[in-house]
Amino acid sequence: MTARRPRVRLVSAALAVAASAACGGPVPPPFKPVADVKQLMQAVVDPSADVVWESVATIFTKDHVEERRPRTKEEWAHVRSHAMILAESGNLLMMVPRAKDGDQWMKMAQALVDTAAIALRAADAKDVDGLLKVGGEIDETCENCHKKYWPNY
Ligand code: HEC
Repeated sequence: MTARRPRVRLVSAALAVAASAACGGPVPPPFKPVADVKQLMQAVVDPSADVVWESVATIFTKDHVEERRPRTKEEWAHVRSHAMILAESGNLLMMVPRAKDGDQWMKMAQALVDTAAIALRAADAKDVDGLLKVGGEIDETCENCHKKYWPNY
């Protein structure tokens, strides 16, 4: 009788593993968020969005008009990496404990991923008009989320 006990325990342990795999799939990755939403906005989202927005502009001064746009390979790569950082920051916003809910918040974070990914592809294609256009759409995704989730916005 005593000799059988460990085997019974092994069986129930195996059942528990099978049950947890059936319910929740693989064990969640051991991620460990370091920044809260505000810090992520300040350090990651805002600076990378600025690089994308400021990459294409028409600047009027008193005596001339500057058509700002990425020109060299390095300048295009700079825009591309910041569009990528911005897109991935949308994923970071979806993580617990940063996500405020599982519904609208996720959709708005997803919109940031999607629009910034379009900017990334525009940078790959060296498409100045595309970059300018999606810049406006990125701005809307920021605004939409801030209107709903930023207290006193
Ligand atoms: C999914 C929601 C969401 C999206 C998308 C989002 N933000 Fe935010 N943002 C917030 C919230 C919530 C706060 C308020 C954080 C707080 O004060 O705790 C905030 C605050 C900020 C702040 C103020 C930080 C401070 O110093 O108080 C800046 C700047 C900012 N966001 C920039 C952006 C930009 C730029 C974008 C778009 C490229 C963007 N955010 C997209 C949710 C979002």
